[in-house]
Amino acid sequence: MQGFSLNPRWTDWAGKRVWIVGASSGIGAELARTALDRGANVAVSARRADALTSLVDGHARGVVMPLDVRVPADWVAAHAALCETWSAVDMVIFCAAEYRPLRPWEIDAEEARRTIETNLSSVYYGLAAVLPAMMARQAGSVVLLASVAGYLGLPNATIYGPTKAALINLAELLYAELHPHGIGVYLVNPGFVKTRLTAHNDFTMPALQTTAAAAAAILSGLARGHFEIAFPSRFTRTMRLLSMLPYRLRLTLMLRLMKT
Ligand SMILES: NC(=O)c1ccc[n+]([C@@H]2O[C@H](COP(=O)([O-])OP(=O)(O)OC[C@H]3O[C@@H](n4cnc5c(N)ncnc54)[C@H](OP(=O)(O)O)[C@@H]3O)[C@@H](O)[C@H]2O)c1
Repeated sequence: MQGFSLNPRWTDWAGKRVWIVGASSGIGAELARTALDRGANVAVSARRADALTSLVDGHARGVVMPLDVRVPADWVAAHAALCETWSAVDMVIFCAAEYRPLRPWEIDAEEARRTIETNLSSVYYGLAAVLPAMMARQAGSVVLLASVAGYLGLPNATIYGPTKAALINLAELLYAELHPHGIGVYLVNPGFVKTRLTAHNDFTMPALQTTAAAAAAILSGLARGHFEIAFPSRFTRTMRLLSMLPYRLRLTLMLRLMKT
């Protein structure tokens, strides 16, 4: 039986026009491979054009579209080029991010500016480029890759965590604003996934997932039309519960965890 879903169900990828930004490695690259396997037309973007080219590897349905997400004009030019090729974009997946574990007393102003621009401002630049066309068609989907690090303030995530918290807030308001116009909004909150991004972590990452498992969870959530796609479920539910505790309990628990 088909239950109630908040978003359109992405079950049939054949012929769909999907733009994955932050696709040169990790989760984005895995999503690109899977979407191509399922018959979608897939445009891949990031700075490393060589990695994008070898990902698509002459695939007839693959388009290599290098860009720097911190440059608004890159978004506009890439979107215009894709509309020229495909006539429209059905789904944009915002995957680009950077992260370095950082304690508050190690903050570097330039790194803070760059990370916030890569992880958060870039999403605004991308939305500014793609939403007018989606609004004109009253169709399309946007997928934001946030993180469980956005549920609550976690040690080491000094710059990264607040950018992901902001993306969760942004996805919620986008849903309220765009759903009435036929535009799907999906929020992806992964736990730990083994990628270049988490290679910096020098602590044991609980419930660490492969990129293949992450892509499968995302596709499964899209097929069900979920608004939030959080995985692995036991870990992300625990983090969500923790975020709901009163501060007195939550912060005391956090101090205990920091000691272990
Ligand atoms: N791995 C995890 O445990 C985890 C957990 C929660 C959420 N996430 C989120 O999942 C998404 C994918 O992360 P990942 O783990 O797959 O990391 P990743 O392998 O490091 O991928 C990050 C992607 O972002 C691109 N990127 C970074 N800066 C860019 C820029 N200025 N312009 C264009 N592209 C840029 C990178 O490509 P170039 O370097 O070629 O530009 C790369 O393709 C991110 O949003 C991340 O926050 C990951």
